[in-house]
Amino acid sequence: ADTLGSAAAGKGRYFGAAVAANHLGESAYAATLDREFNQVTPENEMKWDATEGTRNTFTFGAADQIVSHAQSQGMKVRGHTLVWHSQLPSWVSGLSATDLRSAMNNHITQVMQHYKGKIHSWDVVNEAFQDGSSGARRSSPFQDKLGSGFIEEAFRTARTADPNAKLCYNDYNTDGANAKSNAVYAMVKDFKSRGVPIDCVGFQSHFNPASPVPSDYQANLQRFADLGVDVQITELDIEGSGSAQATNYGNVVKACLAVSRCTGITVWGITDKYSWRSSGTPLLFDSNYAKKPAYNAALAALGGS
Ligand code: G3I
Repeated sequence: ADTLGSAAAGKGRYFGAAVAANHLGESAYAATLDREFNQVTPENEMKWDATEGTRNTFTFGAADQIVSHAQSQGMKVRGHTLVWHSQLPSWVSGLSATDLRSAMNNHITQVMQHYKGKIHSWDVVNEAFQDGSSGARRSSPFQDKLGSGFIEEAFRTARTADPNAKLCYNDYNTDGANAKSNAVYAMVKDFKSRGVPIDCVGFQSHFNPASPVPSDYQANLQRFADLGVDVQITELDIEGSGSAQATNYGNVVKACLAVSRCTGITVWGITDKYSWRSSGTPLLFDSNYAKKPAYNAALAALGGS
């Protein structure tokens, strides 16, 4: 197998990329996407500000473009993300608790039903825990007005809206064992013990010299898988370059392959030309869409060549 997607498929996984609708018209962007990847995540187009900027008025055009492209290419789609404190329209934050609860449940229901049957996995709730040593929940309109039960409620609403989609909790800085990942672990363990519908945990895996790939990365993925959920690497990018970056990408791929319930890897962008990081070269293709050493290392780790 000489592409990331075909090599990953040979190992029973997907290998995908975050996609921006406004770049799909660029031929090299679309060609690289279609050749190399078999899963897509809309980078921004399915977020609340993009889909329900005005209460109960839904706008799906940009996300539909990505989903249609993915379907035409036989690619899986990860839905990102239904309930998140960021990129939230201002009308949401000002609601009363009662109104916020119905707005959250309506948003989940309307968006999921629009894409019913087309989404492999949804990031139902994104980044609900604080960074640092407390393991506490992050303050947000949902946490502050609805209390800690909002996550369970979001997952139960999501299961009803599209029973065929895998329902994930997604976060960052949870890639190794720490207070934040331990808090997520405790929540997932509790959910599984009470039959709260959760199928997967997403590990964003944004790495850089200040937060490198942790030595217990594989063990951390494994402990979550042992709770009875799939684990997915959902937003992988690794700042750096050359052989050091290549080694890191290879190690992340190997860790996923070593965990049977690690079902796929998504890099957070196709090319360094459009990475969300204002500087740096964190992705697998350079700004001219040339394969980097990191690409070769990822492909080799997938058993491709
Ligand atoms: O669409 C507007 C455009 O109309 C306007 O002209 C332009 C300048 O103001 O802004 C555009 O919106 C930007 C949007 O990306 C689309 O390009 C926002 O300003 C910008 O903040 C937004 O950044 C995104 C970021 O999430 C927002 O938090 C990044 O592209 C996206 O890569 C990043 O992705 C997040 C994941 O969703 C969650 N995990 C962390 C990850 C990195 O922050």
